[in-house]
Amino acid sequence: MDVSSYKPKGRVEHRHLLNLLDWSTTDIYEVLHLAANLKNAFKRGKKHELLKGKTLAMIFSKSSTRTRVSFEMGMHQLGGHSLFLSNNDIQLGRGETIHDTAKVLSRYGIDGVMIRTFKQSDVESLAEYGNFAVINGLTDDFHPCQALADIMTVSETFGRLNGIKLAYFGDGNNVAHSLMLAGAKTGMKVYICSPKGFEPNQDITKAAQECGDVVVTDSVEEAAEGADVLYTDVFFSMGQEKDPEKEAALMPYQVNSEVLGMAKKNAVFMHCLPAHRGEEVTETVIDSSHSIIFEEAENRLHAQKAVMCLLMGKK
Ligand code: CP
Ligand code: NVA
Repeated sequence: MDVSSYKPKGRVEHRHLLNLLDWSTTDIYEVLHLAANLKNAFKRGKKHELLKGKTLAMIFSKSSTRTRVSFEMGMHQLGGHSLFLSNNDIQLGRGETIHDTAKVLSRYGIDGVMIRTFKQSDVESLAEYGNFAVINGLTDDFHPCQALADIMTVSETFGRLNGIKLAYFGDGNNVAHSLMLAGAKTGMKVYICSPKGFEPNQDITKAAQECGDVVVTDSVEEAAEGADVLYTDVFFSMGQEKDPEKEAALMPYQVNSEVLGMAKKNAVFMHCLPAHRGEEVTETVIDSSHSIIFEEAENRLHAQKAVMCLLMGKK
């Protein structure tokens, strides 16, 4: 199956996007298919106000550039409205519970809530107690919106996902978790290359391995050899203290010219951004012609618009 041959159903079997664990391959293709159509309309300047009259609240307990702007612009382009709720300004930041916040927001006619926070359990509670669609905009454990935009970008670049080898280098973090789930479910060969002690969570790895082809290794050569996509993320995620030992452990996993040389000739470089040049990736790679980081960042907009339409639009 690839995006162009996929026959859309016009719906996904879910009310929320919490972690991708329970999303099927078909659900993911549904997003990719609609995202491609919405991107096309956007590029041609064609109106696509599929969420007219709908409101998305966006709760941020961590910083953001891409997630905030792409959701806000996405909602605007779909004819809807968005509310930016910073944790510093709302009562959640002063100890009001997720339960009470969910119940209150439900009374105001909110159709969806995008939440970026620390604990995955807070996102799940919001979905449990609220009467709206919940979209995970990043937690310590997952970043599903990023992964959907990432595989959309891979699919556009190579014309398929099936059999594409993606090698992720570095911390086995939220981005790695979502990427291996999305990749495994769409037939990609995903290698997560992390030093000992910084591997991805074992339960999430097992779940991804049950859906497809996922290898966890500490060998840079094994991961990079013949890869179509090289991917990395920061050494320290939001909320983590800088730690010299972790930095030393991750430095040998930097994506540099040597690693790029082990991959396929036409390999691409991806990064969720923000990036730290000289740490997880060198300038020679991230600023090279192999890099597709801005296509990837743009696709956040299109993939999330598709997710919002499928979760918040007419059923
Ligand atoms: N990749 C990503 O989520 O970027 P932001 O932190 O800027 O939203
Ligand atoms: N792993 C990073 C991703 C940022 C988009 C973090 O959580 O900070």
